[in-house]
Amino acid sequence: MAILVTGGAGFIGSHTTVELLNAGKEIVMIDDFSNSKMEAVENVKKITGKDFKFYEINYLDREKLEKVFEENKIDSVINFAGFKAVGESVKEPLKYYYNNISGAIVLLQTMQKYGVKKFVFSSSATVYGDPETVPITETSKVGGTTNPYGTTKLYIEQILKDIYKADNSWDICILRYFNPVGAHSSGLIGEEPQGIPNNLMPYIVRVASGELEQLSVFGNDYNTHDGTGVRDYIHVVDLAIGHVKAIEKLDKENSGLYIYNLGTGKGYSVLDMVHAFESATGKTVNYKIAPRRTGDIATCFADPTKAKEELGWEAKKTLEDMCRDSWNYIEKQMS
Ligand code: UFG
Repeated sequence: MAILVTGGAGFIGSHTTVELLNAGKEIVMIDDFSNSKMEAVENVKKITGKDFKFYEINYLDREKLEKVFEENKIDSVINFAGFKAVGESVKEPLKYYYNNISGAIVLLQTMQKYGVKKFVFSSSATVYGDPETVPITETSKVGGTTNPYGTTKLYIEQILKDIYKADNSWDICILRYFNPVGAHSSGLIGEEPQGIPNNLMPYIVRVASGELEQLSVFGNDYNTHDGTGVRDYIHVVDLAIGHVKAIEKLDKENSGLYIYNLGTGKGYSVLDMVHAFESATGKTVNYKIAPRRTGDIATCFADPTKAKEELGWEAKKTLEDMCRDSWNYIEKQMS
């Protein structure tokens, strides 16, 4: 029996596939390469020394998706497919609602047609909006998302809750990621944003490499220890292992709907990240203080206790690992 990984060539999908294969799981991958490359698929095979079936398809293509279910014995699905650029989602909301929500619906309908009911969904801490208190637990209020990308995550979570309510033989795990950074230690897979990066770590590495001139620190007047925004950065390999634990949980349970925060439980500011990066890599990150970015919140970090208690998972990698591995990936790309 195989796990279908949608969007498996992307940043989190590729790292998760490595950990699934390392854990001895069989996988089938689909990706349309809208924000990834075939090279990532080949490099996952290189890292693990294992082979798997790959289909270049878009998950909105019902006919082709059904063929994947016909040709393979799929018993669970991890859904990474989806657009994720916050700024673009504000400019092109329909593109995001159509791709992310309709794609998830086509995928879930196909699962239903083939009697597959184990589903792991890539959600995000963005569903908590501007949290009333930190650390954020899974029972903290959701809603008040600040952009269409975040709203697609919130709506898909609601769709999953409704599906489970209507038929409680589904076995669903919603994983709310905090801020994934880092890369595989081999330097073969990592984060490759198209164009100028929106996120902090990809921006920092490109300033360090000289590709971009200067980091703009968006606001230094937040109510945080140094005035800059605080987030819970988590190494992508730790995050990937969280998915293996989630699949194992679903395999153990016959049905249910589970929600877990995947974060470290520690918050670091933008300037903490700049300094950590400089000391981990010996590189200098040129930065200036700039106005706040619309839609940003002051502080966001997880209470990851539930994942520890119920999945037996906790983040192990340090901030130094995150910075070193992010840099190692970019250095390899440049050489
Ligand atoms: N930041 C800068 N300069 C930059 C980029 C970011 O100062 O050039 C700051 C932001 O203001 C924020 C912090 O760095 O304080 C982190 O920003 P990111 O854009 O890296 O991450 P966000 O927390 O804004 O958003 C991320 C993901 C979303 C996800 C969310 C979950 O991008 O997809 O975490 O909380 F929904």
